[in-house]
Amino acid sequence: MSPQTPIAALTVTAADLDAIAEAEGRVAVCVGKDGKLDPAARRVNRLTKGALARMIESGALEKAKSGDVKTLAWPAGMKAEAVDVLCVERGAKPVEARKAGAALGKVKGDGPMLILAGAVRRPEEVALGAVLRAYKFTARKTEEVKPMHGITIQVAKPEEVSAASVSAVAEGVFFTRDLVSEPANHLTTTEFAKRIKDMEALGLKVKILEEAELEKLGMGCLLSVGHGSISPSKVAVMEWMGGPKGEAPLALVGKGVVFDTGGISLKPAGGMEDMTMDMGGAGVVAGAMRTIARRKAKANVVGLVGLVENMPSDRATRPGDVVTSMKGDTVEVINTDAEGRLVLADVMWYAQETYKPRAMIDLATLTGAIIVGLGHENAGVFSNDDDLSRAFLKSAEAEGEGAWRMPMGQAYDDMIKSQIADMKNVGGRDAGSITAAQFLLRYVQEGTPWIHLDIAGVASVKADTAYAPKGATGWGVMALNRLVTDMLEG
Ligand code: BES
Ligand code: MN
Ligand code: ZN
Repeated sequence: MSPQTPIAALTVTAADLDAIAEAEGRVAVCVGKDGKLDPAARRVNRLTKGALARMIESGALEKAKSGDVKTLAWPAGMKAEAVDVLCVERGAKPVEARKAGAALGKVKGDGPMLILAGAVRRPEEVALGAVLRAYKFTARKTEEVKPMHGITIQVAKPEEVSAASVSAVAEGVFFTRDLVSEPANHLTTTEFAKRIKDMEALGLKVKILEEAELEKLGMGCLLSVGHGSISPSKVAVMEWMGGPKGEAPLALVGKGVVFDTGGISLKPAGGMEDMTMDMGGAGVVAGAMRTIARRKAKANVVGLVGLVENMPSDRATRPGDVVTSMKGDTVEVINTDAEGRLVLADVMWYAQETYKPRAMIDLATLTGAIIVGLGHENAGVFSNDDDLSRAFLKSAEAEGEGAWRMPMGQAYDDMIKSQIADMKNVGGRDAGSITAAQFLLRYVQEGTPWIHLDIAGVASVKADTAYAPKGATGWGVMALNRLVTDMLEG
């Protein structure tokens, strides 16, 4: 069974003051710093016999920041159980409006919500924020899950707000979060491949490469990671060719280690359970492909993910083993816990050989070192192309997803020289994220603009973020979706 967390259904309507008194669940009004009430807020104020105006006169909103919510519970004169007063400026920038909307998603709960967006210039952003933040992963709970009621948003110009595009984005993000949240006994390589295969229903072309084919292709690096596990290694390939015929696609490549024990170089027990998220890169690729397909993007994009489990066993790769990549060069495996780069190397090579992509972006929960460097606020961005890198950073910023460029260079590459093979898979403790990126760069073909995103710090976090409750964030789905829009559909 592949349960999927449904998004709260979104309905966009024109302003309807008479619907306010009858709305059930929660009613949200938007008020800026100036404390001025728009017509909808004035109606709420009248229904509640001036409670809203009193709240504002009391100074309750004076120190409020964008995204703060003040609640009037069980308001007299209305059917609703609560009025949520959201502090948001009329002219708020898209990201600000989205983050403010997310504050409503946080208080929403399972019941219905009516958002009176009134004069806010980007109501679709308020709605998207609310939908994103209302996520809750319940697939592994046995208690009865209440159905999630929808969100209705009243806006000035309903013809300019598309519920479908909000849903397309939220569905992709939720798909990623579900994958990242699933424990490894449920999300095996086989189950992951099945969930990707199921996306054929959206018009994606999906191919699953099994172990025998991977062997034929010579993917010795990827296969060496999965050897120790009972779960078969796989590569899943998703094609969305909605753009001009014959135009080279953008390739998205993801690390899909469904669980990373470290292999024979076993990780310590404390916190090892977090390695259930080590398929985060593949999760983002799958989620982005879902959004791209759901909105029928006029672009050519392919998504490729390497699905493996890194386990210790009598068949597992040993430290010191030398393996051969699909490219044909050899790698001395110093540490079996530096497995992600081995998986990516072969999938990246296959992506380039198969599609000759115009650009390639890989995503991976690759190194603990990136968390030391950037914490949980920014993903590490490594690139061989300033233009592509700038374009991505711009997309990420526009979507409110943190990203920060890191340096690369020959001196870092020198750190992965091996005595006995063409390279080794670790470069030591220093600059651990950069030497990992240098390893990947060796699998980027001449002339292919490339970005590597190290998302170890942002894929799943232990505190609430702007758009998500603690746990899986879905970081990157929105940035990649925007990059596709701006770079390929512009
Ligand atoms: N999956 C881990 C990286 C990771 C760490 C992701 C923490 C999320 C949170 C990766 O496979 C790994 O084990 N990397 C090693 C590399 C080292 C052996 C060179 C690391 O970061 O310690
Ligand atoms: Mn590892
Ligand atoms: Zn890993």
